[in-house]
Amino acid sequence: MNKFRPFRFLAAAVMSLGCAALAPTATAAEDTGLDALSAIVEAWRTSPHADHGSLSFTYWNKDGAVPENCAACHSEPGFIDFLGADGSEAGIVNHPAAINSVIGCASCHTETAHALDSAVLPSGVTLEGLGGNATCTICHAGRASGDTVSAATTGIEEDTVSPDLAFINVHYGIAAAVMQGGEGRAGFHYPGKSYAGPFLHVRDADTCVACHDVHTTKVEPDGCLTCHRGVEELVDIRMRHDDFDGDADNSKGIQSEILGLHARLYAAIQAYARDVAGTPIGYGKGTFPYFFTDTNGDGTIGEDEAVFPNRYQSWTPRLLKAAYNYQVAAKDPGAYVHNPAYVLQLLHDSLENLSEQVSVDMQALSRP
Ligand code: HEC
Ligand code: HEC
Ligand code: HEC
Ligand code: HEC
Ligand code: HEC
Repeated sequence: MNKFRPFRFLAAAVMSLGCAALAPTATAAEDTGLDALSAIVEAWRTSPHADHGSLSFTYWNKDGAVPENCAACHSEPGFIDFLGADGSEAGIVNHPAAINSVIGCASCHTETAHALDSAVLPSGVTLEGLGGNATCTICHAGRASGDTVSAATTGIEEDTVSPDLAFINVHYGIAAAVMQGGEGRAGFHYPGKSYAGPFLHVRDADTCVACHDVHTTKVEPDGCLTCHRGVEELVDIRMRHDDFDGDADNSKGIQSEILGLHARLYAAIQAYARDVAGTPIGYGKGTFPYFFTDTNGDGTIGEDEAVFPNRYQSWTPRLLKAAYNYQVAAKDPGAYVHNPAYVLQLLHDSLENLSEQVSVDMQALSRP
């Protein structure tokens, strides 16, 4: 599977030239090599990593620099600094980094990045033997873990509203943490429950770079469908047949079970906030910090409600844990592939925990 070796000289050329001057000046490379190289540049250009207009690379433009705690994943020089590939200390960003700096060739193709084999998740768990997946794992692990939630809620009664609590956001694109399941502790784990470990899947599709084209970041479905026959779309894939979301329908993909359970959890979060915490809540999709007070009680968050001063502020530990796990599932749209059992467990247990206070019919719900 490793296509890297035959193209070593190209990767070396990439490193010495820097990306901007790449294709036209790599005269030493053979024609076929040049074609391959320009194909890679083209592929990368279409990827989200190269999207100059994205919020991921422009969010800090008003400040003029990306601060140290954001730069590792949102600016190429920040990532190089984090890896220590610029001669600085590894594992920390030493300086604010350039704005408008997308994740280019030099992010993943320095000697340091090539040699990198491990990454540390927000839970503190270190993953080894990552090879080409190490760079992906660093940036796609999120910024919080279930441990963050435990620490924030310790010592507060489960159903007591506390001004010391605020929503904890796991961050975005958290595939690498979700893939590790219970061992990575991306989600909040309820005491006494056990959680599925890393989703190993099958040998040809068990790492980021095995499934995602590293340059486009896209997943080529044909390879998947040689095993998963009879489905049109990847989201229709299903290998386990229990009814996890209680809708008595197991004819659709495992993704439909995750979405179904996610919607049930949302309803329970709303019921709990209204009846137990005493203040109605709603989710403002795409607006930080996501959970807002449903001031008019219509069950949805309108534009006027999705504003920071109206952020939800009646958190109890029980509500925060469920809302945190709700967001974990929301912020890995590929969770149905990365680790379906783990997210189903997180959603199931969150719902079960809320059912101690509000009415939820758990009878129909299987836990994987
Ligand atoms: C560990 C890596 C990492 C760190 C550190 C990090 N981010 Fe991110 N962030 C990401 C990734 C990955 C995405 C894109 C996920 C996707 O689009 O799938 C993202 C996306 C975002 C987005 C776009 C969200 C959206 O809805 O499109 C914003 C805004 C953002 N981050 C802000 C921040 C801020 C502010 C900080 C520092 C306080 C920060 N990030 C630190 C990894 C990180
Ligand atoms: C997000 C990280 C990342 C970025 C950005 C990136 N690469 Fe790569 N690249 C990789 C990884 C990982 C591999 C090894 C792929 C494998 O093992 O299958 C690779 C492989 C290669 C190869 C070897 C040939 C191949 O297809 O495997 C070349 C050449 C290359 N990259 C050039 C580039 C160039 C040029 C750019 C910028 C336009 C770039 N890369 C941007 C991660 C990246
Ligand atoms: C330096 C940090 C960094 C590295 C390294 C990195 N990514 Fe990303 N990735 C991001 C950010 C930031 C975004 C969001 C870009 C945007 O909003 O346009 C992103 C977006 C993505 C997306 C698309 C998400 C979406 O919302 O559509 C995929 C898939 C992805 N990355 C996979 C990978 C893989 C696979 C690797 C390793 C080969 C990798 N990434 C390496 C930071 C990184
Ligand atoms: C078994 C194959 C497989 C593995 C392994 C895998 N992914 Fe994915 N990933 C997918 C599929 C399929 C999707 C959904 C993509 C889609 O719908 O376009 C996805 C989605 C994503 C997304 C979200 C894209 C979006 O639309 O927001 C990111 C980010 C991502 N993967 C990164 C990674 C990283 C980083 C790794 C390694 C830690 C990884 N993936 C491992 C198959 C895989
Ligand atoms: C070599 C055959 C093979 C290939 C190739 C393959 N898979 Fe799988 N897939 C399996 C098997 C076997 C399972 C069941 C694994 C388990 O549950 O431990 C599975 C499970 C899954 C599941 C979880 C289904 C459920 O109900 O829990 C998803 C989603 C999935 N694969 C998606 C993909 C995607 C996307 C790709 C391509 C990137 C892919 N698979 C490639 C054999 C394959």
